[in-house]
Amino acid sequence: MSHPIIEFSQTPSEHHVQELFEQAKAVQARAYAPYSHFLVGAAILTPSGNIYVGCNVENAAYPVGNCAEASAIAAMIAGGEKEIFALVTICDSTEVGTCCGGCRQRVREFAKGDTAIYACGPDGVRATFTMEQLLPTSFGPDNLVGFVS
Ligand code: THU
Repeated sequence: MSHPIIEFSQTPSEHHVQELFEQAKAVQARAYAPYSHFLVGAAILTPSGNIYVGCNVENAAYPVGNCAEASAIAAMIAGGEKEIFALVTICDSTEVGTCCGGCRQRVREFAKGDTAIYACGPDGVRATFTMEQLLPTSFGPDNLVGFVS
């Protein structure tokens, strides 16, 4: 049985946040965003201590594009994990750039209300949120208990 390296702690360490930031920034540079030119990177820390990254992948058929968060979640699922302990996103906008509405719901599927979500710019963290702050009174897997077998 594996022992999670993250236990009893509600807040990710500064070391973890820095590592997430660096990995999100590195993957941001690989984003495929020839239409919006808005490059986004995302890095997920799981309770096992693993980090999964993703970037946005646009498409000539615009609605088919993927957000960075969706890509990072896909990597996490492919890696065999299902819990988000912390999430860092990074973009180059001058304003604080947080997850879009659709991605808040995507992240919520695998997060808890107190899961930390860091919105970063090129120089570091600009704002910190909890999942509950970004998507209050949300709909999630618990709402389907009893309806889906
Ligand atoms: N984008 C993300 O990757 N994540 C978000 O949460 C907001 C938007 C991407 C989608 C699109 O490729 C570009 O940013 C402009 O909207």
